[in-house]
Amino acid sequence: MAALELDLFLCRTDNFGVLLHDRVSGATASIDAPEEQPILDALERRGWQLTHILTTHHHGDHVAANVSLKERFGVTIIGPKNEASKIPGIDRTVGHGDRFDFAGHPVEIIETPGHTAGHICYHFPQDKLLFAADTLFALGCGRLFEGTAETMWQSLNRLMALPDDTAVYFGHEYTLSNAHFAVTVDPENKELKERAAEIEETRLDGGFTAPTTIGLEKRTNPFLRAGDPRVRANLGMEKASDAAVFAEIRKRKDNF
Ligand SMILES: [Fe+2]
Repeated sequence: MAALELDLFLCRTDNFGVLLHDRVSGATASIDAPEEQPILDALERRGWQLTHILTTHHHGDHVAANVSLKERFGVTIIGPKNEASKIPGIDRTVGHGDRFDFAGHPVEIIETPGHTAGHICYHFPQDKLLFAADTLFALGCGRLFEGTAETMWQSLNRLMALPDDTAVYFGHEYTLSNAHFAVTVDPENKELKERAAEIEETRLDGGFTAPTTIGLEKRTNPFLRAGDPRVRANLGMEKASDAAVFAEIRKRKDNF
């Protein structure tokens, strides 16, 4: 099995576009479809033909180009069964634990409700890839629009259970502002401080902060560190449940 080729680019203002390409079969998937033109430009640049859209959730900035790309290429749109009625052009629904092949590459669906009620992530276990969209960001996590902190904490725990060397692609380039917040929650974390400095440089140079990895997020992302004694002590929440600590961190970020 040849490695999947990947192309990462910006759509709209801060949405990531990602194309996945299998050279043997020619199959090409877009992870979500935030905006048509940047996706067409990336396809043109690579000489790829779009065959699939893998939708993570129903928000407009993730499904905006579903219908136009379907009309143009006749793509198959796969998306979350729990919000299928809100996904334009959807052909096939998938839910937690479902498995399918993308051009011979196994894909496993992880439901991660919280940001939206039916949000799903696409995990490619053999390729060690995760497309986490608006559930997990570099040094951040999605806002709780359709779920409680408890629900989102459980969802994030599903992602934390993946191997540390899983590469994580996410929905938005929010990392610099996430880093500014993260150091206020976990100020003694040396690796986080070093990472925050690197992120400043990367963004100054116009670079992207994706992908990250599960291991790096577990060590530096405050939203995954609600169980860490230093984080809990810093918040004065030594005796609270992990979910309550997570809820407090989410609330602080909402007001940051
Ligand atoms: Fe979203």
